[in-house]
Amino acid sequence: MGISQTFNSSAKLVRLATLCIGLVVIIWNATSMQSTQNVYSRLTKPYAASNPADDLHNEFYGTVGSSSDLTGPVQAGRHNHAHHAPPNPSSKAESASLGLNGRPRLPPVEFIAQHVPQPKEDGSHLEKQQLNGYIDAIFNLDNSIFWRLECPEQHNQGPRYQVLRELSKQDPGIKYFFALDLYNIIDILPRLLGSIIQVIKFLGAENCALSIIEGRSHDGTYSVLYGIQEELSKHGVQYWLDQSDINPHADGVDRIEELSKLRNMALEPLTNPKTRPMFSDKPVIMFVNDVAICPDDLLEMTYQHLLQNATQTCAMDWVDGGDLFYDAWVSRSMSGNTFFEIPQDMSWAFSRNMFWDEPDAYTLYREKKPFQVFSCWGGMVVLDSAPFIDGQISFRRNVEGECYGGEPQTLASDLVKIGMSRVQTLPYVHVAYSNHEAERVKKIREYVHDVVNVTVPVNKFEDDKETQRVKWKQAPPRYRCMPGFNQQWWVDTVYVPGDEHLQ
Ligand SMILES: *[C@@H]1O[C@H](CO)[C@@H](O)[C@H](O)[C@H]1NC(C)=O
Ligand SMILES: *[C@@H]1O[C@H](CO)[C@@H](O)[C@H](O)[C@H]1NC(C)=O
Repeated sequence: MGISQTFNSSAKLVRLATLCIGLVVIIWNATSMQSTQNVYSRLTKPYAASNPADDLHNEFYGTVGSSSDLTGPVQAGRHNHAHHAPPNPSSKAESASLGLNGRPRLPPVEFIAQHVPQPKEDGSHLEKQQLNGYIDAIFNLDNSIFWRLECPEQHNQGPRYQVLRELSKQDPGIKYFFALDLYNIIDILPRLLGSIIQVIKFLGAENCALSIIEGRSHDGTYSVLYGIQEELSKHGVQYWLDQSDINPHADGVDRIEELSKLRNMALEPLTNPKTRPMFSDKPVIMFVNDVAICPDDLLEMTYQHLLQNATQTCAMDWVDGGDLFYDAWVSRSMSGNTFFEIPQDMSWAFSRNMFWDEPDAYTLYREKKPFQVFSCWGGMVVLDSAPFIDGQISFRRNVEGECYGGEPQTLASDLVKIGMSRVQTLPYVHVAYSNHEAERVKKIREYVHDVVNVTVPVNKFEDDKETQRVKWKQAPPRYRCMPGFNQQWWVDTVYVPGDEHLQ
């Protein structure tokens, strides 16, 4: 199933789109950090309060790492990724009403078939040679044109993960579904997609699919994502690539609502009745941000997800050279509280005192063992697909009267509603939003293989006597609602319309 790269045969492209449905990657990060040094040096600066809304423009068009950033306060929404900072509160009121049950309206089912990826001029002026360099680097990890986070080969894809291949033998069809939303993130593609493709090769291409939603990039991201089709199809990988003009930072839109739409689009191959039959009974979703990761990060996440019978499994994402946990806005422990205390002055003064008010997480975090939380994302997640497929759940913003937060929080609430609140964090899977930062994080924290012995074979989960099983508990009755870092109060875990006065 060779794919013409001449871009002139629309019939071929239609066939390609039909054949290759599988990779939805939405990459959000805009400029990311050009200078990690600058980020580190901010650590020594005093932290000052600021209005998160001031920072809004930073989030997708950010200047984090620019020299102007050094003298200013460390702001609440200091980087430019999906859902990490509270949005501009004023946009909330303007946002339009939602579809049934407060869910964003999904595109029509024909969506995939109609949107055949096309080459486009994105203004990046990527030379053919550069483009081929990126593509080669993605498939060939020995390619050293682009420096990337090192993932020591001798530790990768050890016998520990054999069980994941065994499971797909018992459950034919596509079992592992990689979903991404990607925007202006070309620098990280060799590492991110390189690792994903390595994992796909390990798990068996016939068991995997990749779905990527790209949008509005002007750095050549789309050209690369378009350009990998031929090679992916040679490897027999199902690949869905689509574009969206949705801009979560456009005027008059609600950012979480738009982000949710993009996330739901990435999942569409799973939920669309036309493509659903390609999947196994119980596919697993790996939803990955624009992070630098090693293959074992993904494998360990999937391993622990299935071993622990979790509904959602999160990594931990770090900034400031691995010093600061990034996803503080959307993460809540089983105490219902933030992972670290965020005081009213919105400083990060307590950011190193993780899980200060939740004894189980406090202990397990330090012992580097999986623990239950109420909500998380942390740069990437593994998710049960069942509630998405049967339409019980989709990514969404809050409904009227419900606490305003990121889509991982509404997801957490919805999982409680349907009795599937088994959310865990793996405190030894560390990710970051650039190669340099990830290198630093892996160095001062650890790689997966420093914590688990990947050479011990596991053919079924019962073989693994080492891993401590999560003792699943009921979700906390209330959690800390935090529309902005300086607006915090407690709300019921499950919002009941009309109960606003109780909050
Ligand atoms: C996993 O959780 C489900 C509840 O959703 C339960 O029915 C099932 O027995 C659990 N499986 C294991 C192996 O614990
Ligand atoms: C990992 O397991 C193997 C096989 O049991 C053992 O030989 C090796 O010493 C272990 N490595 C570590 C670092 O514990």
